[in-house]
Amino acid sequence: MREPTVRIAVFVSGGGTNLQALIDAQTRGELHSGKIELVLSSNLDAYALTRAEAAGIPTATVIKKRLGTQEAFEERILAILREREIDLIVLAGFLSILSADFVRRYPQRILNIHPSLIPSFCGKGFYGLRVHEAALAYGVKVTGATVHYVNEIPDGGEIIMQKAVCVRRNDTAEVLQKRVMRQAEWKILPVAVELVSAKIRKSKEKEK
Ligand code: GRF
Repeated sequence: MREPTVRIAVFVSGGGTNLQALIDAQTRGELHSGKIELVLSSNLDAYALTRAEAAGIPTATVIKKRLGTQEAFEERILAILREREIDLIVLAGFLSILSADFVRRYPQRILNIHPSLIPSFCGKGFYGLRVHEAALAYGVKVTGATVHYVNEIPDGGEIIMQKAVCVRRNDTAEVLQKRVMRQAEWKILPVAVELVSAKIRKSKEKEK
């Protein structure tokens, strides 16, 4: 089998269950085309960092407040990405905003997982439990998760993969959030990462 050549960075800020799903997929040999080479956190206390360390993956923490400006924050991140020769960035619960300038440097090289079926309940202000609260308030019977490319528009990049999840009567936002993670997010994220990594690997091989 060919060696994996796509170098993946996973960006996190919190618990890191999606990161864990990627690590588990990698352990099972399901990420044939890439390897997680870095976990970058915007928060020192993110449990995701503990998960990365347990899996032997290098970590970095970049805190915007300490760096002062968005430019300095992104410069630091870019330097780390260059040093690690990262090809693909996966936003897995990364709560810091990345500027249009940053995003344009990685066209079709940044993925995000969003806990609804885009274009519903997405865009500015829709993160975490708010997404599920909005779905319940609207009364949808089906929600789900979406993996998409990241561009300058919040949650507006091309859709790569989606999976639907049923809403049940008496669901709370917390209960729904867990079901969406278990039934959709943790399943489609590794598959989408492999799909995109395979594409990137092909284009890297052509460049050689
Ligand atoms: C997930 O719901 C993901 O869809 C969203 O942020 C949450 C991160 O959760 N973008 P975790 O840190 O992966 O557990």
